[in-house]
Amino acid sequence: MGHAMKIEHQEVPVFTNTRVHQAPVAPDGVPASVLVVDDNPAKQKAIVAVVSRLGVQVTTANSGRDALRLLLKQDFAVVLLDVKMPNIDGFETATLIHGRPRSAHTPVIFITAEADSDSERFLGYTMGAVDYIFSPIVPEVLCAKVRVFVDLWYMQRKLILQTDELRESKVLLQQLASHQEIIKEEERKRIAREIHDELGQNLLALRIDASMLHARTGSMHPKLNEKAEYALKQIDATIKSVRAIINDLRPPVLDLGLQAAIEWQLKEFQRRSNIPCQLQVQSEDFDRCLDEKRATALFRILQESLTNVTRHAKASAVRIEVSRDATRLYMNISDNGIGMQQNGTKRGNSFGLQGIKERVRMLDGELKLESDPGCGTTLKVSIPLDLLPTGPSESRV
Ligand SMILES: Nc1ncnc2c1ncn2[C@@H]1O[C@H](COP(=O)(O)OP(=O)(O)O)[C@@H](O)[C@H]1O
Ligand SMILES: [Mg+2]
Repeated sequence: MGHAMKIEHQEVPVFTNTRVHQAPVAPDGVPASVLVVDDNPAKQKAIVAVVSRLGVQVTTANSGRDALRLLLKQDFAVVLLDVKMPNIDGFETATLIHGRPRSAHTPVIFITAEADSDSERFLGYTMGAVDYIFSPIVPEVLCAKVRVFVDLWYMQRKLILQTDELRESKVLLQQLASHQEIIKEEERKRIAREIHDELGQNLLALRIDASMLHARTGSMHPKLNEKAEYALKQIDATIKSVRAIINDLRPPVLDLGLQAAIEWQLKEFQRRSNIPCQLQVQSEDFDRCLDEKRATALFRILQESLTNVTRHAKASAVRIEVSRDATRLYMNISDNGIGMQQNGTKRGNSFGLQGIKERVRMLDGELKLESDPGCGTTLKVSIPLDLLPTGPSESRV
């Protein structure tokens, strides 16, 4: 502390700070603790009386050794340390205090009567936050100095509380995101099934009727036959778009396993984008023991990555590798495109990669993004196979 290096005399007028007269307010209602170390009981008592005005908890010690013992168990906002004490004096005590990890940054205020002989040593003392005060003590000066450290302590405390709060709300947000993700997947599955069962079945029945009408009107009613043919075509087009909607919501091929779903998705991707895809699976049964939740998550990650390839990569080839070992499943998605731009991943409403990260996190997995400008992008996902993550959001569903 800069002002610790100045020698202050008692004649210097004390600045009148009204804040000194109002006790500082602890952010969580827990008062700060101040340690008063003095071998002279009368002086100790006087200091305690002054410091207590700040509404803090005051603890006393009669020697440096006592103080060190107390500092092992408790953290103090500031230590008021008498310099002249038998056995270990104030300076030695301070050095020992600051030599320990727990109290390395505990501020110390030295209290001394002899300005001249000690001032050199104050200047030489460099460890930790240090201040000093001369006796006879001016209560206002003592209060003002202690208050600075108590305020600091409370500020630190407030920061810690806020950090805890932030951490908690981050966890809550993540849980909410996972929860929403699970609900969304279930909802998509339900809607896809309903469309398939209700709309799909009706359309099929309609098609059979229209087809029969078409066959039977062939030669006798050419006009009607033409109408029937038109209706049949309409029905076929509708069946096709219903299928597309179902696939968009949740491809039924997922029920056949991840491999089948990946193959289907790649075929779709090639058809739409004209970018050739290569799929390499290490063993045929890599999706053995893969529950639906994980298969769906990996499938969604693949979909999102392929969307990114189409939208951003300008690639001419895509390669997917899937493999597993005893405990983990690995999926790598690479393109040979332009690579990610340095600032590309931090756009305001870009949630694709964020969604991938969230899905990987939900599965307790790992995600690596490798990309160099001009050298394409590779997304590497690996997830554990045995343990199902048990987040609180999961038990709620
Ligand atoms: N395969 C890729 N090749 C090049 N850039 C990519 C690729 N994937 C993602 N990016 C970059 O990362 C950014 C963030 O992607 P994403 O989170 O999916 O959001 P969005 O696709 O909506 O922009 C993209 O805007 C793009 O700049
Ligand atoms: Mg995207």
